[in-house]
Amino acid sequence: DHSNRARILSANQAASEFYVASLGSEEAEPGRKFLGERGFDQGAAERFGIGFAPRGGALGKHLKTLGYSEEELVVAGLLGRGERGDVYDRFRSRLVWPIRDTTGQTVGFGARRLLDEDKGPKYLNTPETPVYHKSQVLYGLDLAKKDIARGKQVVVVEGYTDVMACHLAGVTTAVATCGTSFGVDHIKMIRRVMGDVAGDVRSTGEVIFTFDPDAAGQKAASRAFDEEQRFSAQTFVAVAPDGLDPCDLRLQRGDDAVRRLVTTRKPMFEFMIRRVLDAHNLATVEGRVAALRATAPVVAGIRDEALEVGYVRQTAQWLGLDMDEVRRAVASARS
Ligand code: GTP
Ligand code: MN
Ligand code: MN
Ligand code: MN
Ligand code: MN
Repeated sequence: DHSNRARILSANQAASEFYVASLGSEEAEPGRKFLGERGFDQGAAERFGIGFAPRGGALGKHLKTLGYSEEELVVAGLLGRGERGDVYDRFRSRLVWPIRDTTGQTVGFGARRLLDEDKGPKYLNTPETPVYHKSQVLYGLDLAKKDIARGKQVVVVEGYTDVMACHLAGVTTAVATCGTSFGVDHIKMIRRVMGDVAGDVRSTGEVIFTFDPDAAGQKAASRAFDEEQRFSAQTFVAVAPDGLDPCDLRLQRGDDAVRRLVTTRKPMFEFMIRRVLDAHNLATVEGRVAALRATAPVVAGIRDEALEVGYVRQTAQWLGLDMDEVRRAVASARS
């Protein structure tokens, strides 16, 4: 229903303005400090519409004076409802990023914890609402869509701060998922933005992932690999030096290092196979055999026949084994 959607979008807009205005308040000092320490000045904060959610029930109170009902604000996800029916501001004492759809409408928010004594999760997002479906939003797509279309390239990073760092460094095709893994719905959105409604972008578009070297990042890499064939896009992985994420990379090494990151991309299959090989000692026969056994399921996961042949050959070279041995291992991983 359209009126309901329009009310939610309007409430989100009003909330976003309230959060932005609150970023200048005294209690938002930890938020301004966070931004400063991440290398984001006031201009950057404005460019991304970053705000601050005050403690207590200030947002709910404000929006009610603007005429929004409690029920509307709960449906929008701005207020939460407790077990006894009591309502509360969902985001409190947090730095807030507005999450916008491709038309620039604010459909939801991501909010970061600032205080050590805060026991909540580091990031809190808008729950599913009539206008917010986490599997169908990409943070930054409103800002990136033109350059994604022009360059037929998108850079998928993990976090909101990483998107900001990329854009500020000149990598203006960066987007991030919002508290969920990258999936087929995200690819569909990117394809639409690339103007490739027909479907197959394998020959035209590039999707470049960056993953943190931590457990969450490695899990995200494996998931993206599992989904790769459903993307039918050219997928790549770019790894920053010393396990830095793009935000920290920009902070420690500067804008150039962030731009270089994109040029170091490797095809996703190559990245996945080398990740396995790197975990083995290839100097010994035992190590090479173990590496072959561990690599075989990865190669077996490649469904494009020509690509598979190519990676069998490549893996044989990396391992110093013959192609037939690799082929046999792949076949037995399949059965
Ligand atoms: P900073 O510590 O602020 O630099 O965050 P980061 O972006 O480097 O965070 P991290 O690598 O831990 O996580 C990457 C992204 O995963 C975040 O931007 C969030 O979107 C998401 N994420 C991280 N922690 C949580 C969490 O506790 N809950 C939810 N829902 N999402 C999270
Ligand atoms: Mn919907
Ligand atoms: Mn991480
Ligand atoms: Mn990170
Ligand atoms: Mn980070």
